[in-house]
Amino acid sequence: MTNEEKVLKTFKEKFGQEPKYIVRAPGRVNLIGEHTDYNDGFVMPMAIERSIWIALRPRFDNLVKIYSVNNQEWGEFELANIEKESGWLEYIKGLAFYLQVAAYSLNAWEGVIYGDIPRGAGLSSSAALELVSARAFFEVSNFTWDAKEMALISQKVENDWLGLNSGIMDQLVVATAKKGFASVIDCRSLETKNYPIHNIAVVIMDTNTRRGLVDSKYNERFAQCQEAAKLLGIKTLRDISLKEFEEKTSLLSTLLEKRARHVISENERVIAATKALEKSDYKTFGQLMLASHKSLENDFEVSSKALNIMVDCALKQISCYGARMTGAGFGGCAVALVETKYIQDFSNAVRNLYYKQMNIHATVYISGAADGTKTVLF
Ligand code: GLA
Repeated sequence: MTNEEKVLKTFKEKFGQEPKYIVRAPGRVNLIGEHTDYNDGFVMPMAIERSIWIALRPRFDNLVKIYSVNNQEWGEFELANIEKESGWLEYIKGLAFYLQVAAYSLNAWEGVIYGDIPRGAGLSSSAALELVSARAFFEVSNFTWDAKEMALISQKVENDWLGLNSGIMDQLVVATAKKGFASVIDCRSLETKNYPIHNIAVVIMDTNTRRGLVDSKYNERFAQCQEAAKLLGIKTLRDISLKEFEEKTSLLSTLLEKRARHVISENERVIAATKALEKSDYKTFGQLMLASHKSLENDFEVSSKALNIMVDCALKQISCYGARMTGAGFGGCAVALVETKYIQDFSNAVRNLYYKQMNIHATVYISGAADGTKTVLF
């Protein structure tokens, strides 16, 4: 059974009828450009084939009522009376709250939600949950779908409802991605350019380690970047080249210098990686991925033992062009670029090697670049 069939079947079981719509939002993997988005910098993510689906029908009162297949429980809230609590429903409530703050007039719906994006793995299950909810409200209410605007409202859920100072990368790519393409995003102007991913496999390797307290460490990095920019006399770390930065390092403590060096050098790597991708020069791309990983490990200090081992296991395979941790870090997934015809051998070898060293079973996902948020049945 496909996931679409699964939400459809559960909807019929719970509501005794066919749904009116099925909407879907994907997860994402970031190829390069980590911890740059909240510094107004550059990123290169793509949407993946794992997603969250909602099967729904409109309601004509004020109640949003949802059955979660993953949690096997119901959740509900009133549109006119949204208050902060905790749990999976917060993403949907927060989204409804900020849509209404932005003067969208919302109608209610009821439905079934199911997702196959592993949680806490750095593949943006939360952005998918926000955007799939936005799409559900769009289908039952009367407004035009502006993908960028929906991404910005979803980011507010993270920043203001959940207190995570995250950037716009996840929401923007989840909202706007195109099948077959990676997106290069300028996180200041939000300008996005799509680059085809040809003849190359993107392999996602889940260390199956999850770290607690990620949010507080993330916010700490955010604050350090802001502080470094202030001391350097610039608006954000986007506003300085690596060359200029090297002449000004005396303005910073050793710690802030390391944090800033990661962000500034990472922005330059994204630009270089974009050029490499244009020429299908995967060798150079792979080297930039490794440099990104080293910088995240040593300067930004958001990698982990499991992530470092996973990257090493990947790099030992001759079919691998490059690998790095992906997402916020401290656990979760690494990503590798691999010659397409060897992906099975690559995946098996990495799983075996990683198990030998960590005594943990890794999960490997092979994913093409998928479409962003959309309605799949109406
Ligand atoms: C998380 C955040 C993003 C981004 C990455 C790190 O995924 O949600 O905004 O900052 O971490 O690159």
